[in-house]
Amino acid sequence: MIRIGIIGTGTISTALVTGFLTCEEGTGNYHFYLSPRNTAKAAALKERFPDGVTVCENNQEAVDASEWVFLTVLPRQGEEVISPLSFREDQKILTIMSDHPVERVQEWTAPASKIVRMVPLPFAALHIGPIAIYPEDSEIRQMFTPLGEIISVQEQGQLSIISGLTAIMSAYYHLIYDVTDWGCEQGLPAEASLKYMTAFFEALSHKAALAPDGDVKALAYEMTPGGLNEMALKNLLGHDAFRLWRDALDEVMARLNAHA
Ligand SMILES: NC(=O)c1ccc[n+]([C@@H]2O[C@H](COP(=O)([O-])OP(=O)(O)OC[C@H]3O[C@@H](n4cnc5c(N)ncnc54)[C@H](OP(=O)(O)O)[C@@H]3O)[C@@H](O)[C@H]2O)c1
Repeated sequence: MIRIGIIGTGTISTALVTGFLTCEEGTGNYHFYLSPRNTAKAAALKERFPDGVTVCENNQEAVDASEWVFLTVLPRQGEEVISPLSFREDQKILTIMSDHPVERVQEWTAPASKIVRMVPLPFAALHIGPIAIYPEDSEIRQMFTPLGEIISVQEQGQLSIISGLTAIMSAYYHLIYDVTDWGCEQGLPAEASLKYMTAFFEALSHKAALAPDGDVKALAYEMTPGGLNEMALKNLLGHDAFRLWRDALDEVMARLNAHA
């Protein structure tokens, strides 16, 4: 049984606990000691997984009970919440706070022996999607493999770039919303429009992942000359629409770099 303390029972840690306690490998093999905040989220996890979860009286109790401690508070809360806590040398730390390098978190959690930084995503609850880690760690890789595809990066700066890329998640959902809504305005039933577009985007992503030599741009130009795809792409390029996505990422990266 692996005992895991969670400091910051929020959106992403709820997804991780759910992912672990709903996969075959996790049931009976993990027990989570939750910090009491957020009380509603901690209570909901306890209700759903009575045997896999203990809600602790305070953060220190969650640390004391655990072999691994997952640090899942917001970056701005990190130092204030983590540094007053006492850690043991035999403990291992997983930090998912986007703005803080491992060296900084290591100072707050000394003398804990090991630290790994991760960029997980809410889809871990469904056992899908990428999970980026730095540095490579066989124990974390083995633990998280049932929750998604583990991608380890060679340098910590690359993890920040991945954190930056995850910031387009909401914009992507907005894109799906906009095109399905447009379909409805044209007369498609809402359910058909959403079903069609989500299957369409899933197939496009699948094909992009298999692009020969990773050349996704070639896929973008693999279209009938004078056809409808060319018309739509030209329209968007004419408005410099893709520049806007890069601009949004630049702004996100500037914020991440300012805190690094
Ligand atoms: N969401 C994502 O998709 C995602 C992806 C990758 C990485 N991350 C990282 O994950 C971290 C958490 O993000 P999130 O979206 O899960 O945020 P969140 O839902 O706001 O979770 C943070 C949790 O920390 C709790 N908290 C605040 N002060 C605390 C304290 N003193 N002691 C214990 N817990 C305390 C909050 O409780 P209250 O609600 O009571 O304030 C909240 O439940 C961030 O560092 C973010 O960079 C998030």
